Amino acid sequence: MKEVLIIYYSQTGQLFDILKNISSTISDENVNISYYEILPKKKFPFPWKQEEFYGAFPETFLQIPTPLEVIPTEIIQKKYDLVILGFTTWYLTPSIPVNSFLKSEDAKTLLANTPVVTVSASRNMWIMAQEKVKKLLVANNAKLVGNIALVDRNLNHISVITIVHWLMGGKKTKMLGVFPKPGVSDNDIKASSRFGTPIKEALLQNEYSSLQQNLLSVGAVKVDPSLIATDIRGNVVFTKWASHLIKKDGEERKKWLVYFKYYLLFAIWLIAPIVFVVFLLTYFPMYRKIQRNKAYYSSVALKQD
Ligand SMILES: Cc1cc2nc3c(=O)[nH]c(=O)nc-3n(C[C@H](O)[C@H](O)[C@H](O)COP(=O)(O)O)c2cc1C
Repeated sequence: MKEVLIIYYSQTGQLFDILKNISSTISDENVNISYYEILPKKKFPFPWKQEEFYGAFPETFLQIPTPLEVIPTEIIQKKYDLVILGFTTWYLTPSIPVNSFLKSEDAKTLLANTPVVTVSASRNMWIMAQEKVKKLLVANNAKLVGNIALVDRNLNHISVITIVHWLMGGKKTKMLGVFPKPGVSDNDIKASSRFGTPIKEALLQNEYSSLQQNLLSVGAVKVDPSLIATDIRGNVVFTKWASHLIKKDGEERKKWLVYFKYYLLFAIWLIAPIVFVVFLLTYFPMYRKIQRNKAYYSSVALKQD
């Protein structure tokens, strides 16, 4: 019997639905699947109020762990043949609950010497968050063997508008009846069951060397090269903001979080389009580098810094 653990954090259930669909084509009489939802001791709100949403930025970006509920012994004591880690991106970084888990002693117990497949469902900026997860997996002595990254496929700026409607309003509905539904589309959520087939094959043969290639051939990851530069640049600027904000508390922190909110709006609506135009203008001279980047960020390899 093969043992699989699906460990995840999903606020609205979008990522959980994807994980269930993937597992539907993995499970059979030879495979036992256990689920565990990472539970922060202090729950994060959903829907989000603006102050809480921006207030989560410094600790998220600086990857400061929050205390988690104890993982039950029946989950922690088993040895797993494969772990599927489901995470979402918050501020270009794995969400606080997932980061906290990956920095815990329990993660060492569950992940050491174990193949791991990562599954993310973000708006569209997941690339640098995945790099941070890759590093945390190495720190836990785990072996990343596959990655599936699902996103909102609408235009970047449309997805910004619709995700605010979803996360602050609490409903995954068409804003004003005219905008597309936010998040990963219903079709993509449903079709994610196809990713289970190559995972199951690798699991049963205990041979993961071609798993990521097989996942890529069924569309598990589509790297948008125009968003790589925005993600990298965003990380540089966020480093400055987060290290400044973390030193503030009380009313001072509140005041600076409002400045951060305005900066974020400015960055999304003005800087990101400029980065995009620069990307287009330099597309041909940078073509080979773009292709190299696409291949690297689609893979499960980790660059040495
Ligand atoms: C505080 C916060 C920050 C987020 N930042 C990002 C981000 O930087 N990039 C991105 O693609 N999605 C971002 N998202 C969207 C999430 O990755 C995710 O798609 C959404 O929260 C739904 O996930 P769920 O399965 O937990 O409900 C953010 C969401 C939250 C709540």
